[in-house]
Order: sequence, then C-alpha cells, then structure tokens
Amino acid sequence: MAATLLDGKSIVERLNAETVAGVERYKGEGVTLKLVAVLVGSNPGAVAYAKMQKKACDGVGIEYELRELPEATTQDELAATIQALNDDPRVTGIILQTPVPMTINQKAMQALISPKKDVDGVSPANMGAIVLSRARLAPCTALSVMSLIRESGVTLKGLEVVMVGHSEIVGKPVALFLLDELATVTVCHIGTRDTAAHTRNADLVIVATGVPGLIKADMVKDGVVVIDVGINRVEGKIVGDVDFEPVAAKASQITPVPGGVGPCTVAHLLNNVVKAADWQRE
Ligand SMILES: NC(=O)c1ccc[n+]([C@@H]2O[C@H](COP(=O)([O-])OP(=O)(O)OC[C@H]3O[C@@H](n4cnc5c(N)ncnc54)[C@H](O)[C@@H]3O)[C@@H](O)[C@H]2O)c1
Repeated sequence: MAATLLDGKSIVERLNAETVAGVERYKGEGVTLKLVAVLVGSNPGAVAYAKMQKKACDGVGIEYELRELPEATTQDELAATIQALNDDPRVTGIILQTPVPMTINQKAMQALISPKKDVDGVSPANMGAIVLSRARLAPCTALSVMSLIRESGVTLKGLEVVMVGHSEIVGKPVALFLLDELATVTVCHIGTRDTAAHTRNADLVIVATGVPGLIKADMVKDGVVVIDVGINRVEGKIVGDVDFEPVAAKASQITPVPGGVGPCTVAHLLNNVVKAADWQRE
C-alpha cells in the first residue's frame, strides 16, 4: 500500500478532549448534559448504533437514555414523545434512530425536533442553515468527512473534488461545505452516466453510497485522497465503498473501513451535544 492511512485517531482525541472540557464546564454549574435517543421498533442497525452511542456517551460523561418505543407506535404518539423531549429542560440532545418503521414519516418526525436539540443536524432549520453557510448543528457524518479532509492537509480552494452519493446526511451537506471552501465540486449519484469519467479527474474522492467496492483502482488517478464513508457487511466482514487494497496502492491518503469516518462521526455527535447546550443557553 502506497497511501498513508487517514485513520482519524487524532481527530477523535482532539474532539473528545474538547467535549469532555465542555461537559465538565456544565458539571461545574451542576448541569449534566443528556442525550436521548428515540428508537421505534428494533431495527438491528439502529439497535447497534444505540449501543455504540451509549458507550461513547459514558466515555465522555454525557448521560444517555435510550427511549424504546414499540414497533406499533403511531406517528401521533412519536410526535408527542418528541415534543415532550423538546420541552424537557433536562434533555440536551435528541436523536431519532433510523430507519423508523414504514408506518412513520421519518422526515416529518425529524422536522419536529427542536433545532437547538437536533444533535444529528437533520431538522429542516439546521439543514437549511448549511446552504446559508451558517450551520450550528450539522449532520455528524458530514462533519466527520470535513474533519478528515482538513486532517489530510489538502488545500481545498480550486481542488477538483468528486462526491459520490447525494444523501441528505452525507453527500449534499459535504458538497455544500466544500463549496464554502471554494473547491470545485462534482456530485455523482445513481443517475450519473459515467462516474469513473469524473472520479478519474479528481484530486479528492469522497464515497458514500452503500455499494461495497464501488470505487475501483482504474477509477482514480495516482496520488488521489480518498474518504470512504461506506459501511457494508459482506460475508461477515465490514467493508467500505472503495476496493481498498488496489485503490490504496494508487492513493496518497485513504481512510480505512472500519475506522476512519465512523469513529470521527461518533466523536462529532458527542461534540454536538455540547454545542447544543451552548446554543440553548444563548
Ligand atoms: N461511517 C459513518 O459514520 C456512516 C454514517 C452514515 C452512513 N454511512 C454509510 O454510508 C453509506 C451511504 O449512506 P447514506 O445514508 O449516505 O446513503 P443513502 O443510502 O441514503 O444513499 C446512497 C447514495 O448513493 C448513491 N448511489 C447508489 N448507488 C450508486 C452507484 N452505483 N453509483 C453512484 N452513486 C450511487 C445514491 O444516488 C445515493 O445518493 C452506507 O454504506 C452507510 O452505511 C456511514
């Protein structure tokens, strides 16, 4: 492998130190920061993510509550739960674990979360603030990608960047953050006719598609920096959206999967709880 691994460990350390300092600042005033995750049903991915959140919160001194609601919960009942959490001054941050059951309109429920408690950055107000370059609580995965890009040391102004994937929590916010840095951004997605034609010209490629091994070595140029957001289970192993070994042989820097984006995302989530507390206090 020629590439340097962008594992994000120093980002996690830095962010967690900042988060712990914030948590302690509030503890000094007798306030415990609290994150409440609402889980409707028992989607295995959502359950696993909740376990990881609990462990991460324990590590930095944030109180964590998993509010488990039955699969049959109605939208009105979920809305009432979210409203009660919005109104509860002891609750600093709220996350709606996804995916929710098909009977529930996920976006409508996310829109009910108070923007100042929306530590996942998914409410319309927080999403819209990104377009206006005034983000305060942004999607943690997008923040993680931006932290890793900064860590890589590339100069974004004028850089040719290809973002593969246009989801609301990754592709779209990352593209907007990159525009703020004056990068030249191309977004590829399921409708793109020839993704390779774009990625081959890119100095920086970010991939968030959920398609294992989508980005192959012949799709990137020598010296490219690669950020792999994908988390896919293939034959019992966790792999990314990048065909890792061959691409790493051509890249100058690359994020590993597992590792890289995932741990930084959790660290940003914890950090957003402190930011939410600060915002609520203003
Ligand atoms: N590491 C983390 O912290 C983290 C966080 C969130 C999501 N993820 C992972 O990132 C991946 C993407 O998740 P998401 O929620 O952003 O995406 P999503 O599932 O909402 O959307 C997938 C995106 O990929 C695009 N796409 C699909 N097939 C494609 C193809 N063949 N060519 C080009 N584009 C294609 C779609 O157009 C869409 O924009 C998943 O593997 C998910 O598990 C990781």
